Amino acid sequence: MSSNITICFVILLVIYSIPYPSFSSFLAPIVKDHTKHHHTLKLSLQNPPQPKQLLLDLGGTLSWVDCTTTSHFITCNSSICHALSSSQGPICTSNNCNIQSTNSLTKKPFVVKVLVDSLELPLTDGRNPGQLKEVNEFVLSCSDRGILKKLPKNAAGLAGLSRSNLSLMAQVSKRFALPKVFALCLSGSVSAQGVGFFGTRGPYFFLPEIDLSKYLNYTPLLSISSNQYLINVTSIKVNGKPLQLNQTSLTVDQNGAQLSTTSPYTVLHTEIFEALIDLFERESAVLDLTIRPPVEPFGLCYNADDLLMTRTGPAVPTVDLVLGHDDVFWRIFGVNSMVRILRRDVDAWCLGFVDGGDEPTYSIVIGGHQMEDNLLQFDLQTQRLGFTSSVLVHNTMCANFNFTTNINVS
Ligand SMILES: *[C@@H]1O[C@H](CO)[C@@H](O)[C@H](O)[C@H]1NC(C)=O
Ligand SMILES: *[C@@H]1O[C@H](CO)[C@@H](O)[C@H](O)[C@H]1NC(C)=O
Ligand SMILES: *[C@@H]1O[C@H](CO)[C@@H](O)[C@H](O)[C@H]1NC(C)=O
Ligand SMILES: *[C@@H]1O[C@H](CO)[C@@H](O)[C@H](O)[C@H]1NC(C)=O
Ligand SMILES: *[C@@H]1O[C@H](CO)[C@@H](O)[C@H](O)[C@H]1NC(C)=O
Repeated sequence: MSSNITICFVILLVIYSIPYPSFSSFLAPIVKDHTKHHHTLKLSLQNPPQPKQLLLDLGGTLSWVDCTTTSHFITCNSSICHALSSSQGPICTSNNCNIQSTNSLTKKPFVVKVLVDSLELPLTDGRNPGQLKEVNEFVLSCSDRGILKKLPKNAAGLAGLSRSNLSLMAQVSKRFALPKVFALCLSGSVSAQGVGFFGTRGPYFFLPEIDLSKYLNYTPLLSISSNQYLINVTSIKVNGKPLQLNQTSLTVDQNGAQLSTTSPYTVLHTEIFEALIDLFERESAVLDLTIRPPVEPFGLCYNADDLLMTRTGPAVPTVDLVLGHDDVFWRIFGVNSMVRILRRDVDAWCLGFVDGGDEPTYSIVIGGHQMEDNLLQFDLQTQRLGFTSSVLVHNTMCANFNFTTNINVS
């Protein structure tokens, strides 16, 4: 009897001491483009796998590639085309399956050919990349009508990461029964890559051993648009003081503020843009900075020499995007609010927000520069956005992900 118990105990001990294979999700490195300030996702397509860089697009229904680089078109009577028909309605031309698709470069929906190809991504435990895994029959699109010209030079296509159930994340999550979540950590550096995680709510480890999922705050994703990620920015504060906006014509944004990785800087309705510059200038007065003629497309610039550097960039007033409640805000420090312009005759730091005119679709479009070195988690199951604000505060950065492959992650 007692030996039975001992055996049981030993068996239990053995079971518990076997390291469980760490539960895996996926990742992809994210590269920043020097010239257009775009970010591209590095992954492999086709069989045998070809490395590709695809422009990261939070507004893209489907991923997109050039039609000449691929061959696996699907027919109208295939089961994949039938599955699409319930949501989008395919358009058949000579038994080729086509659908309407949108992305941030063309803005308007346009007809694309549907195709399937192999996608290959590394698994991850949130710490390192692991073995590569193939996602066969990954649905993507192509069109002959060129959006190629609008792509940064290093991009062979576009990675669609909108709320659509055909997005890269949605397909990967569905295939492997992972949560419908992805997280982006865009690197502020052009020489060191950031990272995107697919199908996991964390951990997200960055050197030295910092799990950024612990620092997330959350705000609801508004469901006004089926495709875009929108959040409820109810006020903007500079050094804690709210912008005075014309409340009758503009609560900060009735439509929600859009998140856009294809917009290099945050774009504001003219009235918000002007109010921000005005308040920022007043709040900076105590710093005794020299204002210089603004450099396009910005509206407020300072001589670079006058600014003190801190861990979170130049020491300037903070800009807070208040999200529904006074105590929920996305804090923007100098490193994300200011842009260094360094040319032969200019050395300036400019407030990195641009004027979107007085009739924009969204009065706030949060752009790439403001997202860099912030971890953003897009959760389509709980319909909320997790955000950390600058991760530099936590003594790490998006370029600190350890890209050394650990083959035990499988
Ligand atoms: C689809 O159409 C092709 C030719 O039009 C035919 O050969 C094939 O059997 C059809 N497949 C299905 C699943 O109906
Ligand atoms: C996408 O969602 C629609 C409705 O929500 C559903 O009918 C369709 O089957 C889904 N498509 C895929 C590929 O999951
Ligand atoms: C505020 O908006 C209203 C309605 O559009 C307009 O009549 C008024 O002149 C605006 N006030 C200011 C200070 O811009
Ligand atoms: C945004 O937040 C405000 C304040 O909490 C709330 O009154 C408003 O309904 C919210 N808007 C949306 C679209 O959720
Ligand atoms: C990066 O990851 C590898 C593989 O797990 C590990 O051996 C190495 O020590 C890590 N690097 C640092 C700086 O922690």
